[in-house]
Amino acid sequence: MKNVYKPITAEIVDVITETPTIKTFVVRPRETIAFKAGEFMEVTVPGVGEAPFTPSSSPSVKDTIDFTIMKVGKVTEAIHDMEKGALVGVRGPFGKGYPLDAWKGKEILIVGGGVGGAPLRALFLALVERLGDFKKILYCYGARTPQDIVYKKQIMEEWPRIDPKKVEIRLTVDEGDETWKGNVGVVTTVVKDLGLNLNNSVAIVCGPPIMMKFATFRLVEIGYPDNAIYLSMEKNMSCGIGKCGHCMLGEYMVCKDGPVLTYDLIKDKPAIWD
Ligand SMILES: Cc1cc2nc3c(=O)[nH]c(=O)nc-3n(C[C@H](O)[C@H](O)[C@H](O)COP(=O)(O)OP(=O)(O)OC[C@H]3O[C@@H](n4cnc5c(N)ncnc54)[C@H](O)[C@@H]3O)c2cc1C
Ligand code: FES
Repeated sequence: MKNVYKPITAEIVDVITETPTIKTFVVRPRETIAFKAGEFMEVTVPGVGEAPFTPSSSPSVKDTIDFTIMKVGKVTEAIHDMEKGALVGVRGPFGKGYPLDAWKGKEILIVGGGVGGAPLRALFLALVERLGDFKKILYCYGARTPQDIVYKKQIMEEWPRIDPKKVEIRLTVDEGDETWKGNVGVVTTVVKDLGLNLNNSVAIVCGPPIMMKFATFRLVEIGYPDNAIYLSMEKNMSCGIGKCGHCMLGEYMVCKDGPVLTYDLIKDKPAIWD
């Protein structure tokens, strides 16, 4: 039986600087680790500790996994100091990801902000690999400034060209600069005039808690049913496998029942947006 506590050694084979505080680490695990978009893994930095991250690469890529990581504290600072050739540990995947099969035939709205773009890139890539299954994908992403947009080249140049009839990308920044010609305002300012049939649509939200809160309220306001709003919850975690109780949100264990949970299940829980 697989030992869920034992990390698999993985070599960092590339490091991409996305923004001043966010880097993507491409790692090659010594054993293949299959995962679904939205599931998470625990990444260990030897001698420092471990922390949960959601892969940002497509689940169909088998030999490497991308983790897009924002520098916020002990483990993430240590990872940011690591270079190509260094070794980390990876255990997982854990939790429940996005139910792509249940969304067949639907119009998909994705709303993201900041490093929340990480799981959303894995999701977006998984969706476009089977684009025939979905009616439309509208991807709305907000960053603080143009320098803070993750996956800039993909999101600004490559993704809008995938299939303009079915895939639309909307970007916004809180503060523009002289290079920025797009929308200025928080992400909810581009969540309007969607051109989607809300009776046949699901919305997926991931980003900083304050953004998730206001994006969810906006989706409810424009008519999305609570059970069609999928939130990627990031609660403090320890074991990652439903044993320690660190990640409780009401009766749900975010590490096991989530991290993807629909709004109807958790809307009344205290601390939902903490
Ligand atoms: C399921 C799940 C998936 C995640 N996926 C990703 C991902 O793909 N990419 C990513 O960058 N992060 C992700 N996170 C968040 C990540 O796990 C934390 O940022 C990390 O654990 C921080 O560890 P640390 O040791 O660097 O910080 P610590 O030393 O533990 O914390 C230092 C300080 O940073 C604050 N802090 C902790 N987390 C965050 C945060 N997310 N944002 C702002 N401040 C924070 C703490 O409150 C504390 O004040 C995910 C979290 C969960 C639960
Ligand atoms: S992290 Fe231990 S129960 Fe969820």
